[in-house]
Amino acid sequence: MVVAELKNIGKIYGKGEASTEALRGIELKIEKGDFWAIIGPSGSGKSTLLNILGCIDIPTSGEYFLNGQLVNKFTNSQLSAARNETISFIFQYFALLNEYTVYENIMLPLNCRKISVREKKQLVNYYMKRLGIEGLSKKKPTQISGGQQQRVAIARALVTKPDIILADEPTGALDRKTGEEVMKILHEINAEGKTIVVVTHDMEVAKAAKKQFYIEDGDGRIKE
Ligand SMILES: Nc1ncnc2c1ncn2[C@@H]1O[C@H](COP(=O)(O)OP(=O)(O)O)[C@@H](O)[C@H]1O
Ligand SMILES: [Mg+2]
Repeated sequence: MVVAELKNIGKIYGKGEASTEALRGIELKIEKGDFWAIIGPSGSGKSTLLNILGCIDIPTSGEYFLNGQLVNKFTNSQLSAARNETISFIFQYFALLNEYTVYENIMLPLNCRKISVREKKQLVNYYMKRLGIEGLSKKKPTQISGGQQQRVAIARALVTKPDIILADEPTGALDRKTGEEVMKILHEINAEGKTIVVVTHDMEVAKAAKKQFYIEDGDGRIKE
């Protein structure tokens, strides 16, 4: 089953002489249960590609299909529904809200859901346990380590039960051992059937992925 498909995707930032062609002719088919690594030098277009997949940026040319639907034609409310229900992001610097507790951060994406409070609490508690952070529930992000913060971010990503998890350099701000622990968690989640795409410049992280997509200067190809 194909979750996401990019057909001849191009992205140009800006206009005229000041414009940058960040992506051109990108072809990528992501199937359910895949674990992709997107690799390439700095400035090659990795984040742009991930942001397009995540519906937080729109391509300037080509077609993007998400669960068989043409994203190019999505209205703003369809785009935000996709971001809340279909896709979850994990970032290098965690992107947690420092004024909220761990528990509240994980609850955030569920706030607008039409399910009971009891169900929401159960989901948050389940994923805090799953990530081994239930003891941190009342702490603020600034009171816990980087590795713990990334676990919170992963719990927040999982709590909505998305079809696809997109991670932009998820180990980039962590020491090697902690980074390996975070990748182990992502591989476990993948083994449970979750589709994952990780942007990385760490060759160890890339090698452990099932499939690799290499980008250079906006051109992408599948690495054999
Ligand atoms: N919002 C933006 N406005 C203008 N140029 C951008 C923007 N985002 C990225 N770029 C440019 O697009 C190219 C690809 O960037 P990016 O996708 O961030 O690369 P990577 O994640 O591989 O380092 C770079 O030349 C970058 O400067
Ligand atoms: Mg980047």
